Amino acid sequence: MYFDSHAHLDDARFQPDFDDILARMRENGVTGMMNIGCDLPSSERSVALAERYDWIWAAVGSHPDDAAQVDEARIEEYRALCEDPRVKAIGEIGLDYHYEDPPRDVQQRAFRMQMKLAQELSLPVVIHEREAHEDGMRIISDFPDVTGVFHCFSGSYEMAKELVKRGWYIGFTGVVTFKNARKAVEVAEKIPLDRILIETDCPYMAPEPFRGCRNDPSLVPFVAKKIAALRGISAEAAAAATAETASRLFRI
Ligand code: NI
Repeated sequence: MYFDSHAHLDDARFQPDFDDILARMRENGVTGMMNIGCDLPSSERSVALAERYDWIWAAVGSHPDDAAQVDEARIEEYRALCEDPRVKAIGEIGLDYHYEDPPRDVQQRAFRMQMKLAQELSLPVVIHEREAHEDGMRIISDFPDVTGVFHCFSGSYEMAKELVKRGWYIGFTGVVTFKNARKAVEVAEKIPLDRILIETDCPYMAPEPFRGCRNDPSLVPFVAKKIAALRGISAEAAAAATAETASRLFRI
């Protein structure tokens, strides 16, 4: 039983063969999934998916790309969506300094507003943080009651250790299966197993041997198998541990 902790199955790219994907998930033993919002429309679609399938749960929020849209009114729209019991997290939220569009201060403001919402609602968060390690750590430090997962983790082992110490979780995508993924591999080998989540981040980040192709949740076992191999445990043990961790973090 595999749990994909970060999917965007509401993406239009999945519409043509949606039912085939669900069938492949079942065949491959993927029995749970968090669908993650990036903006208001995708957050609404996440909630709709979670209402339709009892093995899908939702996160709502604005990705750093959408930070300019986050104002008090948007926060109230997310707060209203969170009244649905299928919503288990705020996300994905955070910082992405790769393109700096929108600018850093706009991203930080949206990130803080959504961390505050998570704190008020006692919900975990799903963090997208790329090339913004210092500011990311600084902002989460200002919300000591909030924890969650750093998805598609790109930081160092030192940073992962610090996050684990503070009660956070680390999410691994297909990147951990890539040949040049030295940092992610080191983190996946060394942090406690019960802090590891597996995810596809589909339609992006397809694991080997599908790198570069459209990803979908039926491929999450490839991530679990890589983590199992790194840690010298069975794929079943890695699947069970990461599914249990997802249930614990998202209170499913
Ligand atoms: Ni994502």
